[in-house]
Amino acid sequence: MSTKSNFKSLTQDKFIQNPYSTDDNSAFFSQWRQDQKEWHDSNEKFESFWRVQAERLLHWKSKWHTVFAEKENHKFNWFSGGKLNVSYNCLDRHLHDKSDKLAVICESEDGTVEKVTYRQLHQQVVRFSNVLKNLGITSEDVVSVYMPMSLELVIVMLACARLGAMHNVIFPGFSAESIRDRLNDCSSKIIVTADGTWRKGKVLPLKNIVDKSLVGNKSVENVIIWDRGLVSYRKNLNDLDWHQLMQKVCLEENIRFWDSEHPLFLLYTSGSTGKPKGLVHTSAGYLLGATLSSRYIFDLHPDDIYWCTADIGWITGHSYVVYGPLSNGSTIFLYEGAPSFPKPGRFWNMIEKHKISKFYTAPTAIRMFMSEGVKIPHSYDLSSLKILGSVGEPINPDVWLWFFHHIGQKRCPVVDTWWQTETGSIMISPLPFEKTLKPGSASKPLPGLICDIVDEKGNTKGTNTEGFLVVRKPWPSMARTIYNNHDRFVEQYWQKIPGVYFTGDGAKRDEDGFYWLLGRVDDVLNVSGHRLSTMEMESALVSYPSVVEAAVVGRPDDITGEAIFCFVVIDKIGCTADDLVSSLKQHVRKKIGAIAVPKDICIVEQLPKTRSGKIMRRLLRDHACGRSFSGDLSTIEDRAVLKSLQKSKTLDLRV
Ligand code: WTA
Repeated sequence: MSTKSNFKSLTQDKFIQNPYSTDDNSAFFSQWRQDQKEWHDSNEKFESFWRVQAERLLHWKSKWHTVFAEKENHKFNWFSGGKLNVSYNCLDRHLHDKSDKLAVICESEDGTVEKVTYRQLHQQVVRFSNVLKNLGITSEDVVSVYMPMSLELVIVMLACARLGAMHNVIFPGFSAESIRDRLNDCSSKIIVTADGTWRKGKVLPLKNIVDKSLVGNKSVENVIIWDRGLVSYRKNLNDLDWHQLMQKVCLEENIRFWDSEHPLFLLYTSGSTGKPKGLVHTSAGYLLGATLSSRYIFDLHPDDIYWCTADIGWITGHSYVVYGPLSNGSTIFLYEGAPSFPKPGRFWNMIEKHKISKFYTAPTAIRMFMSEGVKIPHSYDLSSLKILGSVGEPINPDVWLWFFHHIGQKRCPVVDTWWQTETGSIMISPLPFEKTLKPGSASKPLPGLICDIVDEKGNTKGTNTEGFLVVRKPWPSMARTIYNNHDRFVEQYWQKIPGVYFTGDGAKRDEDGFYWLLGRVDDVLNVSGHRLSTMEMESALVSYPSVVEAAVVGRPDDITGEAIFCFVVIDKIGCTADDLVSSLKQHVRKKIGAIAVPKDICIVEQLPKTRSGKIMRRLLRDHACGRSFSGDLSTIEDRAVLKSLQKSKTLDLRV
């Protein structure tokens, strides 16, 4: 574990004045920041902060008796004794005054637009929860979902929450094999999918991919298909049609309220091993984190049209497309399709058309828009925008400033939000009211959260010194465990550095207390804001017949932030090197999915290793970045490998 990250240090730009800040709103937040200082030392004040938020922001069927308790072996309980229903919080509680307000506006790549009010969404969710119930789904079950960005996906999630069944949403870019691993790990009885989804003018046949994933699976009893008439698929005996099920089912229900710690969903993410982990989030704490952060970071108002561009298959989509904004009674916008399709400007066109006011996206998307030139956004009316957000990877100051100038037109603050699947909700971010912002810095931890930058022993690092980003006190929206593997959860997050939550990120804090994120410090890559495990990719590569050994590293990329660079040792080629490279790419696509397809594949004779046999990735990283080998070379087993690595440049088949 080293604090040295792949990322070049971000420059610490000067403060810029926040155009959104007024004396009134900034005073409120200065007070919050002021209070925060006291929470570090006083558990009582810390808990009292969360008590007040839980009372103000959530609807409770019955109130809790204990704000926070930690049981042995890192089992955390928030709001014990309380009962609530997450779906009720996102729907029913808005019905008395917002039943005719739009809850969701969806646009598909082909231009189709669909709008539903809170009342309509509520009805559909009640229906679908009855569908699941009639199929025997209970609060003990996991419902897997492999669906497009759509209203129907939101319905499934809220119906599961209503019923108390955990959902497991799988990003539609994952392959059949990845779906199979996830279904097997959580023993899902049911999977909900669609015939297909739009992807750059073509249809990705989701149902066919699900069929492949079910080969050899023993747990799934039924597949529900939302048939949109996009693509034909094979009909199997255990297939059920969404429309028929929804038509037949009744609208009545007896809603049940669940314990605060009742599991809400599990979501698989990559870690530093070859196997994705299913992080489990529970009801009350998760919802509180999502509700609080979206309300204040995006300063949600009744007339907002809010758009978070993340796919719902990632945590950002869970917390900031679905749960956070709906719990606040906002109108959310969903787009199913590729960003610049059919031509650049699609995003700006939708912002203009739907009058989006809060826009939350990823640096990789912004970098792509930058490469298309400023003329494109300038030709649209973006005056509805009020706040811009960024998430998923460090945002370089120049990208931040481009976003601020050309999209926000110097009117909208950019909130750079740092968080993780594990944290459930945003942890470090500016609040939109603060007087000043620093381009490239995620600013400071949010109220109620105690972060720090430390060394391996947990000692706080000095100003402007790189260290590990940790969280010193538990918080309500944190993941509670890894599904079926609590030991891995404890080891991964709570034992790496004594007494604190280990994030796996490097960071430093400047003289003003602003945090600067520096990328992962473990074997996780961040490609276009998507987390990918190097181990997972390596095992995919070595499962290809002629690959004997593989090592994967990241190299900086202008658009995707990091790009995947693979080194492979092969026993025989048997085809041209070009063919081998394209077959390997195809193989990774099949094993993991399109998001993990490497950008560069380099065929080498051997990998550089230490005498104890550990691959020296930093040397591979040097090579991938076109640098000469640096650092201590004394531990290398065979120096000749470096020469052969340099020679292998001739075989470096960049594609
Ligand atoms: C990275 C996404 C810098 C980080 C919400 C983290 C960021 C990982 C930022 C989590 C940011 C996320 N600045 N880095 N604003 N936001 N990251 O679980 O390395 O998909 O650990 O959650 O993304 O990725 P995940």
